[in-house]
Amino acid sequence: MNDLIVCGDELGGELAKKLKVQHIPVITRIFPDGEVQPRLEREARAKKAILLLRKRADENINSYIIRYYLLAKKLRSLANEVIGVMPYLPYARQDTIFRDGEPLSSGYIAELIEKCVDTFITINMHEHRKRIHELFSIPSFNLSAFPLLAREFTDFDKNNSLVIAPDEEAEKYVSEFIQVFESDHIVMKKTRDVRTGKIKLRLDEKSKLKNRDVIIVDDIVSSGGTIVKVAEECLRSGAKSVSMAFVHGLLVENAIKKLMLINPKKIVSTNTVENRFERVNVVPLISKFVKKRLK
Ligand code: R5P
Repeated sequence: MNDLIVCGDELGGELAKKLKVQHIPVITRIFPDGEVQPRLEREARAKKAILLLRKRADENINSYIIRYYLLAKKLRSLANEVIGVMPYLPYARQDTIFRDGEPLSSGYIAELIEKCVDTFITINMHEHRKRIHELFSIPSFNLSAFPLLAREFTDFDKNNSLVIAPDEEAEKYVSEFIQVFESDHIVMKKTRDVRTGKIKLRLDEKSKLKNRDVIIVDDIVSSGGTIVKVAEECLRSGAKSVSMAFVHGLLVENAIKKLMLINPKKIVSTNTVENRFERVNVVPLISKFVKKRLK
């Protein structure tokens, strides 16, 4: 029996190398009707097993959750303890009931995950109204990649840069970012129509933007609607350039095209989900945490 194994995709392979343990790759087949059939390349028994899987660029978010769930459940039959690492936790934005009849989806997804893992680790979960410990009843940990994203901007002039948060929720991301990249920052105000999903932004300190190299930071870029709106507002207010730094590049619909139309100076994302702008590798962050936890 192995003490520890890591199952999962290429990020899992990297983590296994760092932890100097066996890696078991995952193979996935999708049936024509959409059913997911994941498989561990081989079976191995272990005291502890880590499952690290990220969403593929062309993978439906719901298929990803099912794939994760099925494999974690399988691992339960092979290991005494399963440590689930989901670099991006879907459904975390649905953390309250906005309108009558809606399910509390973030809580229900957490319940599903808890059925098959003993410990849960994620990166920059959308902790708006609920902290990770309020969502899960098992030991759960939310790591942050913003300090790593900030390191990608060391070639920028700190004195002429301005870091912007699209809304108050992103203020904590900005504060982590500027601990590494110490520049001026501002926070915008965002409201979203719960029925149509349309957003409205308010920027109170427009004069601060003149001739500045703006870096917009956010946790998720999905349709690109929010970040593009912020970028347009910055350019209208006289910013010299706009750059974007985000953790989870979901980049659905024609988000990439929308982002490129802004002509950003730099776009940096992590590899929590497979995407075109991944520059920051989160495996060292996960490995450091796991090593500490397993000590
Ligand atoms: C919302 O509160 C998040 O922090 C992101 O700003 C949002 O999910 C981005 O979505 P989209 O790219 O579709 O505007």
